[in-house]
Order: sequence, then C-alpha cells, then structure tokens
Amino acid sequence: MIDTLKQHITEVEKFSADNLEDIETFRIKYLGKKGLLTHFFSEFKNVSNDQKKEFGQTINLLKTSATDKVNSLKAALEDNTKQKASGRDLTRPGEPLELGARHPISVVKNQIIEIFSRIGFNVSEGPEIEDDWHNFTALNLPEYHPARDMQDTFFIQTDPDILLRTHTSSVQVRYMENNKPPIRTISPGRVYRNEAISARSHCFFHQVEGLYIDKDVSFADLKQTLQFFTTELFGKSKIRLRPSYFPFTEPSAEVDVYWGLETETDYRITKGTGWLEIMGCGMVDPNVLENCGIDSEEYSGFAFGMGIDRIAMLQHQISDIRLLSENDVRFLAQFKSSF
Ligand code: PHE
Repeated sequence: MIDTLKQHITEVEKFSADNLEDIETFRIKYLGKKGLLTHFFSEFKNVSNDQKKEFGQTINLLKTSATDKVNSLKAALEDNTKQKASGRDLTRPGEPLELGARHPISVVKNQIIEIFSRIGFNVSEGPEIEDDWHNFTALNLPEYHPARDMQDTFFIQTDPDILLRTHTSSVQVRYMENNKPPIRTISPGRVYRNEAISARSHCFFHQVEGLYIDKDVSFADLKQTLQFFTTELFGKSKIRLRPSYFPFTEPSAEVDVYWGLETETDYRITKGTGWLEIMGCGMVDPNVLENCGIDSEEYSGFAFGMGIDRIAMLQHQISDIRLLSENDVRFLAQFKSSF
C-alpha cells in the first residue's frame, strides 16, 4: 500500500497541465470528496500498527504535493493569461540596441574645433539668414562690387537686404562688432550658394572660418597656424600658399596641402600633382577691421575659411557630395567615431 502511495507521489510531481479543465480533473482525482486521498485515509484503519506511522506520513506527503501542484499550476496559468492580456510576450528575447553614428560633417567639424581649441580659439556661431551688411558690405564688398558674383546668393523673397549667408565670414563680422581684441575664434556653420547641384557642388554646404586679431599679428603667424592645423588633421605638414584674391583680406592666398602621390587614389584626387587645395586665407583688410569698430592702426589679424564637406569627402573617399545630405542610413551608419 505504501508503495502505491509513493507511486502516486511521483505521478503528482510529474503532472503538468496548461488549462483549467485538466487541473480540475487532477484536483478531483486526488483531493475530491470521493478522490484517492479520501480513499487512502479510509484504508488507514486496515494498516497494521507497525506501518501506521509511515503510512500516515506518506499519505500526508501525497496530500501536500497534490495541493501544491494544483496551486502552482493555477498560478502559472493566471500569469500566462495576464501576460497575454497585456499583449506582451515576456519570454521574447530583447531587440538588439542599435548605436547611432554621428554625421560625417559633424565628425569633421568637431575634429577641427578640437584642434583649434588647443591653440586658444573659441567657437562662435551666427544666423543663417543674414543681412547684406554682415555678409557683404562690412567685408569690403559694397553694393555693385563685382566680387559679389563670386558667391551666387539666395535672397529672401524680394528684399535684397535679407539673404542666406554665403559664408560664415558674416559671423566673424558679428564677433568683431561685439568683442574687443585679442580675438581668436572659429565659426562653423551651414552656408548657401545658388549653384547647380551636382556630385561636386551643392546649394548648401558647411564651412569653418577662423579669425585671429591682436597687436602685431603677421602673415608668418598665419602660416604657422595653418601648418599646425594640417599636421593635426591630416598628418601632413607640407603646405604651400598661392597668391589669390578675396575682397576682405589683403594679401590673400589659397592653401594647398601636399597629399602625396603614393597611391592611385592620391593620384586621382590631386589630379596627378600631389597637391590639394583646402582653404582660402589672408590678412584681414584694414577696411574690414574699421567697419567692425577695430582700430586698424593698432591691430592686425588673419582669417581663413574652409569647406567641411570637401574635407569629409577627402577623408572618407566619398565621391558624391549629395550623399552628405540624403540621410540614407546605410551611408550614415558607416561613420562611427569618438568625435
Ligand atoms: N569667406 C571665404 C569663402 O567663403 C573664405 C575665406 C575666409 C577666405 C577668410 C579668406 C579669408 O570662400
């Protein structure tokens, strides 16, 4: 008899059910009024005295395990129903977390800011919708000056005084108007030019312009600063300055960095010369200083400006500038960086 009881205990422990009917049938089988336990209890009187103790213990064990089983199965079933009702499957593995990547324009911009901040330049920003004064006139580009044609301009509606800035030199004007020398600032931002969109040029792009004004600032300071910059950003220290023209600087120059001619890519991007043009620069024209309320007898300074998009394209071998503004995640996800 005791063996039968033990067999039932094993069976009870093994039992499993996932619906109320099966659990109820199981409960009635063991714990019901006419169930097995009632039956076994009534057998108690027939058990010999020396077995009564063990029989009693075993029958109690069977009772507890049957009761526990019914309770735990019911609880599990309830949990499950709740989970289903909430519409969530809590057993489902988690979705992998996708880490975002910074836009290559931001990466390059931050690299440039970091390099210049090491030699004391702060960051200044200004509006993208500008007036004529800050974008042109203050920069030695009065109305009807032919050099205005160098930067095809978007005007806002019909007001020729309000426009989308064509360079961040406008921010430098604002900075000079509001700050006294010494000035060391770089101005990153988006600029607009009314140009046909192609793989090489877009109607908007990004610039970082720099301005340094103090007593006795010379062209040699400019050259040193630019060389420091190209060494830090590209790891290339060989530069050359070619005479050029900008209305707001005198003298003016175009800066080329020696890229090298080691690979086929070097050959292609430098058109076989090894040299790459990366920015414009010059000594700030005294007229510009005066326009911005700075005494040109006491102070001198240099300025430079470069396109971020072109540098990003160079660094990552991006062949079409339009990719930078299309926001295709397959393109953007390729740029993981700590900057
Ligand atoms: N503002 C010029 C441009 O947009 C760049 C530049 C800045 C040139 C400062 C010289 C000095 O092309």
